[in-house]
Amino acid sequence: MRKEVDFLVIGSGIAGLCFALKAANFGKVCMVTKAKMDDGSTRYAQGGIASVIYKPDSYEKHIQDTMVAGDELSDRHIVELTIREATERVMELVQWGVDFDKNQDGSFALGKEGGHSMNRILHHKDITGYEIEQKLIMAARKNPNIEIYEDRLAVEIITQHHLGVEVNRRTPDITCYGAYVYNPESKNIHTILAKVTMMATGGLGMVYEHTTNPLVATGDGVAMVYRAKGAVRGMEFIQFHPTSLYNPKESPSFLITEAMRGAGAILRDANGVAFMEKYDKRGSLAPRDIVARAIDSEMKQQGVDHVFLDTSPIPRKEIFEHFPNIYAKCLSIGIDITKEMIPVVPVEHYSCGGIETDEWGATSIRNLYASGECASTGLHGANRLASNSLLEALVFSHRACIHAVEDLPSIQFCQEVPDWNSEGTVLNEEMVLITQERKELQTIMSSYVGIVRSDLRLQRAFDRLEILYRETEDLYKKSILNPEICELRNLINIGYLIVRHAMARKESRGLHYSLDYPPHSMKNVK
Ligand code: FAD
Ligand code: SIN
Repeated sequence: MRKEVDFLVIGSGIAGLCFALKAANFGKVCMVTKAKMDDGSTRYAQGGIASVIYKPDSYEKHIQDTMVAGDELSDRHIVELTIREATERVMELVQWGVDFDKNQDGSFALGKEGGHSMNRILHHKDITGYEIEQKLIMAARKNPNIEIYEDRLAVEIITQHHLGVEVNRRTPDITCYGAYVYNPESKNIHTILAKVTMMATGGLGMVYEHTTNPLVATGDGVAMVYRAKGAVRGMEFIQFHPTSLYNPKESPSFLITEAMRGAGAILRDANGVAFMEKYDKRGSLAPRDIVARAIDSEMKQQGVDHVFLDTSPIPRKEIFEHFPNIYAKCLSIGIDITKEMIPVVPVEHYSCGGIETDEWGATSIRNLYASGECASTGLHGANRLASNSLLEALVFSHRACIHAVEDLPSIQFCQEVPDWNSEGTVLNEEMVLITQERKELQTIMSSYVGIVRSDLRLQRAFDRLEILYRETEDLYKKSILNPEICELRNLINIGYLIVRHAMARKESRGLHYSLDYPPHSMKNVK
């Protein structure tokens, strides 16, 4: 199949859906998503969206909190424009039907999370992402200009490389002509030619053994853009969420939202000792990098597999009203959080780096935009401030649409693009090779490239990854494509990028903490 569309959107989370809903006012949109519409991270977001709504909060305070959390590596210009534009974008969500919790007087009920100096988190109980995702999907399904294809995996973006032109990282005008997309029904690769392509493929948590991310989070967009010689940055900054539910058999891990700490919950060790004050004067509500490292250090010192979150400071009524999903989940595994502490452990949660974009969401590849977790806009620096992710996707999908629409009339489809060539490939019957390599990769990344790193650990990971890379490339070239081999290849590219970027950073900063380098800044630490 060959298809021509004005806008190709890859991914159906908040970033892809917001872009699609806006772009549909200017042309035909084709959205491809590799599983069901709501299978991305967006649906699982709990805490909410940070946004300045009422005084005495101010843009300046939110900007300052974002800069501090990012360990001063965020791009101040990007931080300012994102925070200042966020309020309007969040109100658009309300117009699309998203129902944020309100106080009795009708004002928005604003929660708090780590690193925020004010209550500014809009939420829908503890299932904010589910509420947003469902309302956006409803709007997209109703829109006659948006065509939706579920279970379609984008394999590669199409550039001059596919026309036989040599492309390298210094080529100035690499151009995206659309994408090759796998259709599981026909088992064929389709050619979708697009004037504008939006990469909105979300996170990469599946590169680690334990993550809050759903199964689709295999870093596909970042890997595709990297292979197409596009710019990718900041991959060393992998955020580990301090409090996932310790339930070793469950994968992905269930999140215990930071909003619980915002509401008063306290981290304690097995003896009931609140340990966070030892590490940071902000205690359990310090930014995530600091809390995750503190828990990691306590677990290692005490030789235990988890610490506890004590929710007893939160009134019972608030538990039932604000955190019903967490209450029900914990009860389902025998923990009554109104009576007992929750066992929690840090796990991979978010990628702060990704496809480099400018202030309009434009990537280094012409006619290709990126938004959401796969993008690196400059907002998060070395560590994302809690609940700044959904907000970033809203702002940059909007900006990308404005920018793309300006260029649209002058972009032609590239008719010379050939269809996918699968000559010489054979059916791969050795699925065990793929599953085993994926497990090996996850073990390597979790053992050597976790919360605490060192030069030696990174070198070890690099050496092991090289072997996996060679074996997988070999398998990929010989195999008739299937989603499993494509995802494995992407994950190995992602592992490689994380390790290479981590090796290049000769300091400890934000989420990148190395035993071999002193922290860039001690100012946040008591
Ligand atoms: P996603 O929502 O992950 O969507 C990605 C989409 O791309 C999916 O539809 C996927 O199927 C598709 N896709 C991927 N690869 C391909 C491919 N090759 N071809 C076709 N389709 C593809 N952030 C906050 O700001 N506040 C919160 O409270 C919050 N809570 C969170 C709780 C959890 C448990 C998790 C996991 C994350 C949370 N985050 C939160 C982070 C935030 O949810 C995500 O960063 C954000 O939702 C990402 O949106 P997205 O649109 O970029 O990606
Ligand atoms: C949470 O609810 O703790 C997650 C918020 C986020 O990742 O921004």
